[in-house]
Amino acid sequence: MDAYVVDRDGRGGLVAGLGRRDVRELTSPGVLMRVQYSSLNYKDALAARGDPGIVKRFPHVPGIDAAGVLADDPAAGPVLVTGYGLGTEVWGGFGDYVRVPEDWLVPIPDGLSVRDSMILGTAGLTAALSVDALLQAGLDPAAGEVLVTGATGGVGSLAVMLLARLGFSVVALTRKPAAEAYLQGLGAARVQVARSAPAPAKALHKAQWAGAIDTVGGETLAFVLKGVGYGGAVAACGMAGGADFPGSVYPFILRGVRLFGIDSVQCPHAVREDLWRRLAGPWRPARLADIERVVDRRDLDTAIAALLDGERTGRTLVRVGAVC
Ligand SMILES: NC(=O)c1ccc[n+]([C@@H]2O[C@H](COP(=O)([O-])OP(=O)(O)OC[C@H]3O[C@@H](n4cnc5c(N)ncnc54)[C@H](OP(=O)(O)O)[C@@H]3O)[C@@H](O)[C@H]2O)c1
Repeated sequence: MDAYVVDRDGRGGLVAGLGRRDVRELTSPGVLMRVQYSSLNYKDALAARGDPGIVKRFPHVPGIDAAGVLADDPAAGPVLVTGYGLGTEVWGGFGDYVRVPEDWLVPIPDGLSVRDSMILGTAGLTAALSVDALLQAGLDPAAGEVLVTGATGGVGSLAVMLLARLGFSVVALTRKPAAEAYLQGLGAARVQVARSAPAPAKALHKAQWAGAIDTVGGETLAFVLKGVGYGGAVAACGMAGGADFPGSVYPFILRGVRLFGIDSVQCPHAVREDLWRRLAGPWRPARLADIERVVDRRDLDTAIAALLDGERTGRTLVRVGAVC
């Protein structure tokens, strides 16, 4: 099979690129799936750089998302896998085939094509989990504006689209001043450009948002918590800007702000199936194709560099064995 492989180069460095592997190297237990599309996520970019927190063994095939059909039973219908150990513990969706435990598979619901399912991918599931956390915290469109940080990224773009689809007034926070039209096109009511200078070191800022979805972490998460209003809720799902965040307990004890952690990797299967049904139905973003960019695996190096530089917007779909 063809696969984008990351391996040691024998001189202490790494080499990555498209190469030939034997399907019999997929030795983990499970069913064999023929991959049609994958997608490029932040975690895949880190895996392609050999991040030791993600890649435990070399050679490695990244790709935490995969959609396609069962190799032995294509008529059973299209399926997808996101997270669990795909692209981390076992070879991932940047290969023609993956072998995964059957209980990792989610049938792609009617309303989504295989391609749509990978425009969404882990980013869509994460955005959906984040939106669901805000809804379960009692937020509704009447509560006020909701902030999305890292708004032009994969999770950020989809969070903007989902919240706008559900009637929320969305404020998109981005470091890219040129992305205003893009974000308004996704449904953002307002676009705020992230300040490069640190905000004044106050414990709390003026209450501006009823809630937030934070994909950036670090200083940005601390900034977000200071600006959420009384009884507000924040879904923390990312760390593109850093894993540690400075802050105080004041948003929690003076404004009753609630902070929800979001994990798409191990989240229960029933929750995934429910959210994928919503993503295919009442939550389905109208113009998914507006945020997609398609790459072949031979062009992944360029796409990975752009993602790590934070230059990219939206979702990068990876064409594997696409037939549609
Ligand atoms: N919790 C989960 O289960 C889960 C699942 C998926 C992803 N994630 C995490 O969520 C984050 C976003 O993932 P993604 O796939 O959407 O990545 P992505 O497409 O690369 O988007 C990240 C966005 O964050 C902003 N950004 C990047 N570097 C930054 C920096 N140094 N400081 C501030 N902002 C920065 C940029 O948006 P602007 O230029 O618009 O500001 C960028 O487009 C990552 O940390 C990823 O690991 C978590």
